[in-house]
Amino acid sequence: MKPLQDVNLEQSSSADGVPIDEGDSRLTRRTLLMAAGVAGGAALVGTELSSSPHLTVAQDATPEASPVAADTLPPNIPPWTTQWGPLPSEYGSRSPFEDGVVRDPSSTSSRSPLADLHGIITPNSLFFERHHAGVPQIDPAEHRLIVHGMVDRPVIFTLDDIKRFPSTSVIHFHECSGNTGSEYKEDTIAPTVQKSHGLVSATEWTGVPMRTILNEAGIQPGGTWLLCEGADAAAMTRSIPTEKAMADGLLVYGQNGEALRPEQGYPMRAIWPGFEGNSNIKWIRRIEVGNEPWETREETSKYTDLLPDGIARQFTFIMEAKSVITRPSGGQTIPSDGFWEISGIAWSGRGKITMVEVSTDGGSTWHEAELQEPVLPICLTRFRLPWSWDGKAGTIQSRATDETGYVQPTVDAITQARGLNSTYHMNAIKTWAIAENGEVTNVYK
Ligand code: CO
Repeated sequence: MKPLQDVNLEQSSSADGVPIDEGDSRLTRRTLLMAAGVAGGAALVGTELSSSPHLTVAQDATPEASPVAADTLPPNIPPWTTQWGPLPSEYGSRSPFEDGVVRDPSSTSSRSPLADLHGIITPNSLFFERHHAGVPQIDPAEHRLIVHGMVDRPVIFTLDDIKRFPSTSVIHFHECSGNTGSEYKEDTIAPTVQKSHGLVSATEWTGVPMRTILNEAGIQPGGTWLLCEGADAAAMTRSIPTEKAMADGLLVYGQNGEALRPEQGYPMRAIWPGFEGNSNIKWIRRIEVGNEPWETREETSKYTDLLPDGIARQFTFIMEAKSVITRPSGGQTIPSDGFWEISGIAWSGRGKITMVEVSTDGGSTWHEAELQEPVLPICLTRFRLPWSWDGKAGTIQSRATDETGYVQPTVDAITQARGLNSTYHMNAIKTWAIAENGEVTNVYK
């Protein structure tokens, strides 16, 4: 006998649109007992089941469910309870009823479906991806990593060589510096959180500290920069400070417990925690040690931030604190007024998120959201706030603060500081508008 819990949502009658305080006792829990072993097969269930708080996604991609005959619903027995189900496959798959939750691929990237993800870990199949010449299909037996340049001993490693070193696992967010670039300008804002913020994900990476690899070669005095080069057809190449590599850089081969996906750099990639995605070179085949940056294409004409005065910010590696509400978010519809949880993600390339605040009145007042444990440094942090929608048109926004004291800026603040020339490093507060009919849309600010 397995107790099932359901949340009674009918009593959260705060009709003023003000978030219900944490621990509010107006939320009552009911326990439903499913008596699976009752003689005659009849199940005993509650008779006042409230619907679970799923939001309706406007572009509903849920597979067509076979019509459920009324006599399969409680208190009757559904057909899947009366017979053995199919046996599991060797490599698992999700329910076909979840097939609508997919990435949004283009010719250059694929965005994670943030509105439909739970917790803080992104499943490997839904992890965002950005490539510059497609996804190379690399035979690991034919792949090598060479470390050379200003080193005592140039070394060539196989994947098996790398795996012999002591390994470690870390959980971090990973974000393209172009993520949310659409939100700099009012006329390019994206309709959904997947399109506006979907170039961020989080995962457990497993690999060998980069300092271990670099120490094998022995960095010579003055070897302050590394040139990291991928084995893809773009030979994606970035200059990385040796100091960062020695501090917390990783050469990874594992992701969420299995081998890296080809899209994430199989068989090995660099990870520089908190640094913009493209600098974490995938399919890494070469590290050259030098005494200055190489000024490659991807750190001059691309991935620099042109300011209004014509000067470009360069080597802007760190992804600053940012947050976004994922539910409810653009493209969804809130079915009715009353209780709904506002939930989203926050992250900072400089450490832990210490606070996320939510405003439901255009930024006049802010309410501190609960940060779901674990709150890890340089990782997605899930925030949640109980909320009662009053059924009136309005806006919702979130604002993150990290452990350095940095506060996520407004759209006005960031565009005044940076202008509108660049699409990179956009981390402003995101505003979603809610219409009286419950439709949620993106608004510029
Ligand atoms: Co940058």
